[in-house]
Amino acid sequence: AVRVIETIEELQQLLSRNERKGATVGFVPTMGFLHEGHLSLVKHAKEQNDIVVMSIFVNPAQFGPGEDFESYPRDRERDLKLAAEGGVDIVFMPAVQEMYPAEGGIRILPGPQADVLCGASRPGHFDGVLKVVLKLFNIVDPDRSYFGMKDAQQLAIIETFVRDFNLKTVIIRVPIVREKDGLAKSSRNVNLTEVERKEAPIIHQALQKGEKLHTEGRAPNQIEHEVMNFITANSSGKIDYVKMLSYPELQEVTNDRTEVILAVAVQFSKARLIDNIIMSTK
Ligand code: PAJ
Repeated sequence: AVRVIETIEELQQLLSRNERKGATVGFVPTMGFLHEGHLSLVKHAKEQNDIVVMSIFVNPAQFGPGEDFESYPRDRERDLKLAAEGGVDIVFMPAVQEMYPAEGGIRILPGPQADVLCGASRPGHFDGVLKVVLKLFNIVDPDRSYFGMKDAQQLAIIETFVRDFNLKTVIIRVPIVREKDGLAKSSRNVNLTEVERKEAPIIHQALQKGEKLHTEGRAPNQIEHEVMNFITANSSGKIDYVKMLSYPELQEVTNDRTEVILAVAVQFSKARLIDNIIMSTK
């Protein structure tokens, strides 16, 4: 049975070095409304660790004004059932007041990796992600932490955060899990209208088209253009960005790059969807 913990003190007590007795801890941070993407992180964590801890916390610090903090889907009982079935040992579900008891305080400023893609459209978003992730790392003290490639920019920034500040957890990258029609699984997919849901797989199709153009040797700006046109022609969603950058540096692509990311964000009426594909140059 999964153990549900709501306070920092109780979790730190449960996971103290004394209680742990050398068992390794794998950590899966989430904002809940769990799907097979989250459960894939759990599966990887279970394979590599003795104890799996999942956090479920819709983090207000990473939502900007006018974003979907209020309408972000939540379902505590369903999440706990899925976490238990997935083999999670401990679920940490703090209240906002538990995580953020005071106003003001310290801000964390990510570097240039956060100036592009979602960081450009969502100012302060990654400040809020790093803040909650650092708090969670300090509370859970995990040996390994699992992040999905779905949020490739988040993952790249967190890897840099761990490197630059010598955080004592190993970041494990987990591949994107998709629906049968190619749509990347996301908690936000439930906020698509019926029509938008039918259109949404076009995003992955466009990325595959971009990948093909890349293997044919086409230039990044040509690829971006074609991908953008393909999405515009086939969906009602409004393109936020289509961008090819080096990965994980997230800089303009130069010829000597071995790995590049083609990343897309599309705003539908009530859901902003992101997706990406990593391609090697050689
Ligand atoms: P959330 O969007 O709930 O995602 C939690 C984790 O699941 C992230 O690492 C994300 O990349 C991964 N994930 C989501 N959809 C996925 C998919 N289709 N395939 C593979 N992995 C997927 O990302 C966050 O929450 C938050 O920003 C968080 C890191 C918890 C900080 O608040």
